[in-house]
Amino acid sequence: MDTNEFTVLKLFVVGILVNAWMIRGLSATDGFNIEPTPLRPRKACNESRLQWEVEVCGEDFKRSMGHIDPQYWCNLTHFISEYNLFTLCTEEKSQIVSCYWPNPLVERYIIRIHKHFFSNCTLEQVVLVDPPDNTLTILILVPVFLTLAMIALVVWCSKRSDILA
Ligand SMILES: *[C@@H]1O[C@H](CO)[C@@H](O)[C@H](O)[C@H]1NC(C)=O
Ligand SMILES: *[C@@H]1O[C@H](CO)[C@@H](O)[C@H](O)[C@H]1NC(C)=O
Ligand SMILES: *[C@@H]1O[C@H](CO)[C@@H](O)[C@H](O)[C@H]1NC(C)=O
Repeated sequence: MDTNEFTVLKLFVVGILVNAWMIRGLSATDGFNIEPTPLRPRKACNESRLQWEVEVCGEDFKRSMGHIDPQYWCNLTHFISEYNLFTLCTEEKSQIVSCYWPNPLVERYIIRIHKHFFSNCTLEQVVLVDPPDNTLTILILVPVFLTLAMIALVVWCSKRSDILA
């Protein structure tokens, strides 16, 4: 296994740990309930409002991508903090309108954003960033990698079902 693969693998392992830790943290605030599914009834997810809120996140992201030279749009190093802000924004808005995150509506919107900005990028261009040394970069990379992996999976599955259909 070469160093790049190893770094990516490490990021995934750390990501899983961080997620497990966050889920435990969230359930602890729910009154020591370790079960992942909250029993307490929650307000219904308002999808029309979520759609609107998520588009606000998208507009902010488009504006910050506008400040980056399009020749760097495939270079994760250049847009990672903007992308992270966008992801956090969709997560925050989902919580505000009582929707789970990630959810199909947010995923569809993120795929649209990806098609808009990253349709011409090859996987190598996006993934081959220098292995990050500093902890902050790793902390930012983890959710980004998880989101990218999730979206790649969704796109791959939908392509597969297109072929099978
Ligand atoms: C959802 O949000 C929209 C826009 O804010 C509002 O007009 C609508 O009444 C809300 N629907 C529900 C079921 O709360
Ligand atoms: C991405 O940008 C950084 C900083 O400008 C640069 O060091 C790196 O070589 C670039 N990576 C690719 C794959 O172009
Ligand atoms: C991708 O390439 C096509 C054809 O070269 C071009 O029209 C389009 O603007 C490019 N999209 C991005 C996001 O760079």
